[in-house]
Amino acid sequence: MRNLIRKLDEKSTLEKEEWIWLFEHRDLIDREELFALARARTYEHYEHKIFVRGLIEFTNYCRNNCYYCGIRSGNQLVSRFRLTTEEILDCCQLSYEAGFRTVVLQGGEDAFFTKERLCEIIEAIRRKFPEVAITLSIGERPREDYEAFFLAGAERFLLRHETYSPSHYARLHPENLSAKARQKCLTDLKEIGYQAGSGFMVGSPYQTPENLAEDFLYLKELDPQMIGIGPFIAHKDTPFGAMTSGTVADTLLCIALLRLMLPKVLLPSTTSLGALALDGRKKGVLAGANVLMQNVTPSAQRLNYTLYNNKERAKDIDLSPDNPLFKELEQLGYAIVSERGDSKNV
Ligand code: 5AD
Repeated sequence: MRNLIRKLDEKSTLEKEEWIWLFEHRDLIDREELFALARARTYEHYEHKIFVRGLIEFTNYCRNNCYYCGIRSGNQLVSRFRLTTEEILDCCQLSYEAGFRTVVLQGGEDAFFTKERLCEIIEAIRRKFPEVAITLSIGERPREDYEAFFLAGAERFLLRHETYSPSHYARLHPENLSAKARQKCLTDLKEIGYQAGSGFMVGSPYQTPENLAEDFLYLKELDPQMIGIGPFIAHKDTPFGAMTSGTVADTLLCIALLRLMLPKVLLPSTTSLGALALDGRKKGVLAGANVLMQNVTPSAQRLNYTLYNNKERAKDIDLSPDNPLFKELEQLGYAIVSERGDSKNV
């Protein structure tokens, strides 16, 4: 196992069979040694900087019915909301005042936000906050929409591939969605010139070591600027409500392995990691992550944006400079910086 990790660190890649073996025998890995190696690679490219993003959840309407997700169209227990342009700009203001220089507009696939409406919102943010990077996380759209958003001033896009395997993808999503369509969107986004982020859920139902191996190989080939991964967390009002959630340990392992495979990629320590354990996001950083997303959605709406159970913890994520997580990371030698935090994986 130690030889395999060394090979990954030196060559930044492994063969499919090696990945499978590694995931099957993950209990053999010396985690502390692996995390220290991952931290060293993060440091080489980003020093001890932690980049912060202001996350704006602007709509929880969604036309999709993914089996795992709390805001799936079939969940009639969610009260649905949309933020107005004014409200979105207020969130951007909050985020700006907190020192963050990236906003992430995240939402369900909501037809109300047409290409034209979204372009207006992006342009309004661009005008008011010229030095802030705008990231979109709004799912699958036609290529011409992606092109229009890019021209309007959005420079980054997050779209997790969720799982590479078409058959595993089909077990997590209804028939109208496919792994192929998802991956096509990612190729489009990269071609247009976005800094693109992909990723998957760790411990999603039916996930096998082979699925994980394929996710890693796909990410290596896609070579994105960002990779967002987090544990699957069962949401009670979904078909997967009774499924076993992913673990903090497996997520940390994947973060560290991704860092060795793509040393310059931006890796967030996600809110879902923080939802499973109070110190989950700190542990993510100590496994090689270097980005934090802070929720700047107004609290009334935030509670209705529940992709998974236990997201109430998100309430702890406040904006003040003495935010406990920031403080703890600073004590460990990290610097929470007020920068756009562009990817070096270009
Ligand atoms: N648990 C963890 N992550 C989830 N997501 C959606 N539902 C869940 C869940 N139950 C993730 C998906 C999506 C991202 C925005 O949130 O990977 O891409």
